[in-house]
Amino acid sequence: MSDSVPEQMPHEPVLCRYHATDRDEVFDFIREVFPAEVAVRLTKQWRWRYELNPFTPSDGPPVVFIRNGREIIGLVAGFRLRMWMGGIECVGEGRGTWVVHPKYRGQNLWRPLIAHASSAPIQIGWSRLPPRVQRGINWLSNPVRPLIRVLDAGALLAHFIFRRRFASIPIRTRTTATIPSPLRGASRPLESAVIRLEAFDDRADVLWERARRSNSAMVIRDYRYLNWRFCERPDATYILYGIERASELEGFLVARATTYRGLRWGYLVDFLAPENSTNVLSTLIGQAIGELHQLGVVAVSCYTTDKAARAALFRNSFFPAPQPKPIRFVHFLQGSRTDLEEFATLKTWYLTMGDGDLEMAH
Ligand SMILES: CC(C)(COP(=O)(O)OP(=O)(O)OC[C@H]1O[C@@H](n2cnc3c(N)ncnc32)[C@H](O)[C@@H]1OP(=O)(O)O)[C@@H](O)C(=O)NCCC(=O)NCCS
Repeated sequence: MSDSVPEQMPHEPVLCRYHATDRDEVFDFIREVFPAEVAVRLTKQWRWRYELNPFTPSDGPPVVFIRNGREIIGLVAGFRLRMWMGGIECVGEGRGTWVVHPKYRGQNLWRPLIAHASSAPIQIGWSRLPPRVQRGINWLSNPVRPLIRVLDAGALLAHFIFRRRFASIPIRTRTTATIPSPLRGASRPLESAVIRLEAFDDRADVLWERARRSNSAMVIRDYRYLNWRFCERPDATYILYGIERASELEGFLVARATTYRGLRWGYLVDFLAPENSTNVLSTLIGQAIGELHQLGVVAVSCYTTDKAARAALFRNSFFPAPQPKPIRFVHFLQGSRTDLEEFATLKTWYLTMGDGDLEMAH
C-alpha cells in the first residue's frame, strides 16, 4: 500500500444506494480508479451484471457507493443470486467490485459501512487480498486451487519458460496430449448423446432438482440464471454442452476459449450432473476438451470443490495447479442465520469458476 497520507474527509461519508440514474457518475468513478482495461470490462458488463440480472430486486441492484460531498469515493457492487443451502433456499449476492478511491485508502472506510451495504444473508466473491482483510469485515476466506489439463506442453513451455531466451528459435517438437474419445472412460455405455445447446430451457430446472447436492451450498442453476450468466453476457461467448437421454437433460457443461497472456486458453466454466453420474460429467469434459483442442487451446483450467466433479476431471487427466498464492473464495454468512452456520467451511460448498465474478474478470 502507498505511504502517502490519506486525504481527510471534509464531509461525513454517506452511503448511497445505486440507481440507474447514477450510472454515468459511477462509470466516471470506475474509469478514475481502475486500470483502463478493467474499467472497459466493468462498464461493458455493468447493465448485464447488475441491472438486467433476472433476480435484481425491483428497487434496484445491490450496489452501493460512498459519497464525500459531491464526490464518489468508494463502491461495492453486487448481483443477486438464488442460493441453495443444503435444502434451504435463500437470497444471495455475488460481490466483486469493491474499491476505494486511492486518495481515501488506509482509513478502513468500509468497516463501519459494510454491514449496511447489503441485507443478503449470504454473499460470495473472490479475492487476492490476505485473509485478515476479509476477517476485518467478518467475511470468511479460503484458497481454491485451479485444476489444469495441458493439451500442448511445447507451446506452454515456450511461452512461460523459454520465451525470453529462445524467442527467436522456432519450436519444432510439439508435445500434444492425446484426446480421449468422448465416451472413453465411461463406466457404462450411455444411450445418450452430447449435444450443443443454444440456450437452456426448463429441462435445466428438472436437472437442477435431480443434481443439486442435498447437503451443499450452491448457486441455484435454474434456466433463468444459466441463460443470464452464459447466453446474455455482452463481452464473452460460451460453448454450451448438454447430454440428452431421450428428451431429458442428463447434465451440462459450459466451456470457453479465450486468450490469456497471449496464449489460447480454455476454461470449463460451469457444469452439473447428478452426483452418482460421474460418467455423464466425464463424457461432457472429454467432448469439451476435444473441441477446445481443435480450437488451438494449449491448456484448459477450471475450479471445482465438488468431490464427484473432481473425480471426473482427474479421470480426464486434470491435475491441481501448483500456485504459491491461489485466489481465495470469500464469503459472508449473516450471524443471525444460525441455520447457515455449517456453511462456514469450504468443503460444504459446490463451487465452479462460473460462481460469483471470478470468470467475469476474464
Ligand atoms: C481493498 C480496499 C477496497 C480497502 O480499502 P479501505 O477501506 O480504504 O481500507 P484500507 O486501505 O484501510 O485497507 C483495509 C485493510 O486491507 C489491507 N489491504 C488493502 N489493500 C491491500 C492489498 N493490496 N494487499 C494487502 N492488504 C491490503 C490494509 O492493510 C488494511 O488492513 P488492516 O485493517 O489490517 O490495517 C482498497 O484498498 C482498494 O480499493 N483496493 C483496490 C481494489 C481492490 O483490491 N479491491 C478488492 C477486491 S476483492
